[in-house]
Amino acid sequence: MRILTGIQPSGALHLGNYFGAMLPAIQLQDEGEAYYFIANYHSMTSLTDAALRRQYSRDVALDFMACGLDPKRCIFWKQSDTPEHTELAWLLSTVTPMGLLERCHSYKDKLARMGDDAAGSVNHGLFAYPVLMAADILLYDSNVVPVGRDQKQHLEVTRDIAIKFNILYGETFVVPEPRIRDEVAVVPGLDGEKMSKSYGNTIPIFGDEKILKKRIMGIAMDSRGMEEPKPDADKNIAIQLLRLVAPPELARSTEDRLRAGGFGYGDLKKQLFESYWNYFAAARTRRAELAANPDYVDTVLREGAERARAVAQKTLARAKRACGLD
Ligand code: ADP
Ligand code: TRP
Repeated sequence: MRILTGIQPSGALHLGNYFGAMLPAIQLQDEGEAYYFIANYHSMTSLTDAALRRQYSRDVALDFMACGLDPKRCIFWKQSDTPEHTELAWLLSTVTPMGLLERCHSYKDKLARMGDDAAGSVNHGLFAYPVLMAADILLYDSNVVPVGRDQKQHLEVTRDIAIKFNILYGETFVVPEPRIRDEVAVVPGLDGEKMSKSYGNTIPIFGDEKILKKRIMGIAMDSRGMEEPKPDADKNIAIQLLRLVAPPELARSTEDRLRAGGFGYGDLKKQLFESYWNYFAAARTRRAELAANPDYVDTVLREGAERARAVAQKTLARAKRACGLD
């Protein structure tokens, strides 16, 4: 079984990335051949600062490895070191109906957030993004793709493209399956919307203690007083996050206290901060060690790229042969 996922270097990685994609990917490392990459081509659709891209790419490498990605058990590399992705994306784009891309929620949401400027500033890369993503996946004959729910539609697009190519040019690609965990399908952000780098509502996995504490204390709550019972405690953002980072009994008892009344939101958020800080304690130490050893990280990515590229070149050659480009 081939497992593949990518993460964009477009900002500090956060709890949504961790529980939605990174942890499932880390846990799948031993269940087959795992291919994990830093989607730096994808980040170009939203980020135009070269120095920042470089820095975020390094941060993704450090974060992912600190959290448990083990380069001995998977192939880990930067997307731009396997340029076959862009060539395959062209082949795939010629069998991709425009309507399929026009219906993508992720594209439509980004367009909507841009408001009146959208027509002038939306770039073709953002529109064509799912085709590049399909190339990423199909290039490695991936069977399973661990992602958060926001990527489900992109996986459907990938499947549609693979099936269409196979019909037009003969059996060429493996049709992949998404792997989405219900309990972490959408991790909420500080404002209750999906936590996302592009919405500025994240709790990063790593960073300065004071700043992170302030962010957690800033989670939006309603105006009910401390004494009031909160029968809807399960919908509380801090409770939902607490369930992810605290031992189950602690999450349950905190929820019960909120339900009963007499337990304030300030204390709830303090509890969340402590649990979160403990949850990532070992990873924080590991990250500091990795950050002090940049040559090691570079070697991992370089060797990963070499291994990935050998596979990518084979699949691309197969696809080119299928459509008479050999
Ligand atoms: P972002 O939305 O912050 O830019 P990415 O698009 O780079 O994050 O997502 C990387 C991975 O993390 C994807 O598999 C995505 O589904 C997952 N992910 C991102 N945000 C969340 C979230 N809030 N809940 C669950 N999974 C998420
Ligand atoms: N589009 C994904 C995201 O924004 C990142 C990504 C790029 C990806 N290529 C991929 C995820 C291939 C899984 C497989 O989250």
